[in-house]
Parts: sequence; structure tokens; C-alpha cells
Amino acid sequence: MAFPKVVKIVEVSPRDGLQNEAKIVPTAVKIEFIHLLAESGLSVIEATSFVSPKWIPQLADHKEVFQGISKNAGVSYPVLVPNLKGLQSAMDVGVKEIAIFTTPSEQFSQHNTNCSVAESLARIAEMMTVARQSQIRVRGYLSCVLGCPYEGDIAPQAVSDMAEKLIQLGCYEVSLGDTIGVGTPSKTHHMLDVVTEKTAREKLAVHFHDTYGQALANIYVALESGIQVIDSSVSGIGGCPYAKGASGNVASEDVLYMLNGMGIQTNVDLAKLIKAGQFISNYLQRPTQSKVNAAYSADFFE
Ligand code: HMG
Ligand code: MG
Repeated sequence: MAFPKVVKIVEVSPRDGLQNEAKIVPTAVKIEFIHLLAESGLSVIEATSFVSPKWIPQLADHKEVFQGISKNAGVSYPVLVPNLKGLQSAMDVGVKEIAIFTTPSEQFSQHNTNCSVAESLARIAEMMTVARQSQIRVRGYLSCVLGCPYEGDIAPQAVSDMAEKLIQLGCYEVSLGDTIGVGTPSKTHHMLDVVTEKTAREKLAVHFHDTYGQALANIYVALESGIQVIDSSVSGIGGCPYAKGASGNVASEDVLYMLNGMGIQTNVDLAKLIKAGQFISNYLQRPTQSKVNAAYSADFFE
């Protein structure tokens, strides 16, 4: 299959990136960060989570962040939502798009959302009814699609069944998450083969964490399989506090550099994306996890 000509990058750093930070980042920094990301031309920026502040204290300021950002025309600012309570508070501040999440792993569901997979699907069905009535767009996430920190291997067929279910429930797209970054290109290829038997590739996205350094190779394979939407996070920040051993997301700068090199259009400006990555790395006082950002920052090309 030919590579896609155009790819959409879904920037998840303000949510997936920051949720894993123990030290609270001030609301104003989060807002400035999202503004810098928007300047780079990204069309989707996941802004925050309307989850329980007891579970993710870092994103307890979700309302203030969402209300504080200037919304660029043509940019979507989805927020992660686990239940009706979160959806209601999101709607109260004018959220137009949410991301819901579940997993084929029973154990991970318990650890991450304190409920079974069946209960999580029931919560999603409830949210879908309200979202449909209120014309809220819903994106779906499936976690642990290439392995679970508690259950080990996850059957591709189980991923496929769940993806199909989320689309049937009304998600416009399902993002397949390698939450702990254990996938390899051949596993990714096989999983996508199985999932695309039932779900159109146009409705799928991939979401790789880079724990074992496989993310870019996995993304290349996903592109070869016709996937056109890639989740990533500037400077590679990210991780799920409820997934033991999970490290950062694949770095957006590295994904963009690869896509540019392949002649795939994204409408995202690399220099501006690098600036946003540097901003958050500087704030967190941590070296960037993006090789591309590190190379540019070291004036590699001068
Ligand atoms: P629970 O403790 O079972 O629920 O949590 P509860 O109903 O007993 O609520 C506990 C307290 O939280 C109550 O407050 C609720 O009101 C409150 P109290 O009465 O004790 O004062 N609460 C809320 N507050 C604000 N907003 C809400 C909300 N809901 C309840 N929406 C729950 C169940 C699902 C809420 C909890 O487990 C939770 O929030 N989990 C989210 C964990 C999380 O955010 N994980 C990371 C995101 S997923 C991820 O990173 C993977 C992904 O990136 C893809 C990949 O990489 O695979 C997406
Ligand atoms: Mg993630």
C-alpha cells in the first residue's frame, strides 16, 4: 500500500505529556504552551483531562486551562473525559470535542479507571448519548493494544473487537495506544492487519509511547498500512501514571521530521514545533527527549 500523502498529527502533550508530571505546572504555563503549539499549525491539540483530580492532580485546573486558551479557528482542542461528570463539566466550559478511553485489558481498566472493561463501555455509551444530543465530537482511545503492564500480551482480535465497538458507539476515530511502548514493527503490522479487517483505516490513529525506542519504526509501519493520523507529544513528554513502566510519547518533532523527509504533508512548521518543545523542556528543566529538537538546539546544522 502507498504511503498517505497527508497526515494529521494529534498533539497530546498538554494532556498525555503533563498528566505524568508530579510537580504541578502553573495554569498560565499550560496556556502559553498550548498557544505555542497552536502557532506551529497543528490542527488538533488535546488540551487537558476532565478526569478526577484525585487521580490526576496535575490536570485539576482543566476548566481554567480550557477557558484560558485562545481558540484558533481551524484548531480542535479535545479534552479527555472518563465519565458523565467529566463530560458535564467539559460542556459547562464550552468543550466541543472529547476523547473517551478504554482498553481490551481487564487489569489495566481496573488500574486506570477503577472499573471493568464492561463498565467502562457502559460509561462510554452513556457519554455518547449526551454527546450526540449536544453535538460533541467524540474520539476514542484504546490502551495497551500491543501489550499490558499487568496482563502481558493482548490479542489483536480483542483490539479489533473493541475498536469496532467504539466506532459503533459513535466515535469518529479510534486511536490505538501502545501505552507502555512494547510494540515492535512486526507486531504493529499484524495488529493493524487484524484491526483493519473490521474497521476502516481512515477511522484509525496510532499512539505510540517510546519506552523501548520502537515508536518511529512502528509509525513507519502504520503509514505503510495506510494510517493517516498520528498522536505525538513535543519533546517526547508523557506517560500514564497508572501504567507501570510507561515512558514518554513519541516526540512530535521526530515524527514531523520523518514525515517531511518522506514528502508527506502535515501543514505543521518544524521550527515552531521545536520552539514549543523547547519551551516545555525548559520549564520542566529536563533535556528534550526529541532527537530532532536536541540536534537543532545544539545548532547541529550550523
Ligand atoms: P473512582 O474513584 O472510582 O470514582 O474514579 P468515584 O466516582 O468514586 O469518584 C471519586 C472522586 O472523584 C469523587 O470525589 C468524584 O466526585 C470525583 P469525592 O466525592 O471523593 O470528593 N470525580 C471527578 N471529579 C472531576 N471530574 C471527574 C470526576 N469523576 C469522579 N470526571 C475515575 C473513577 C474514572 C473518575 C478515575 O479512575 C479517573 O479519573 N481515572 C482517570 C485516570 C487517568 O486519567 N489516566 C490517564 C489517562 S489514560 C492514558 O493516559 C492512556 C492514553 O494516553 C492512551 C494510551 O497511551 O494508551 C489515553
Ligand atoms: Mg498515552
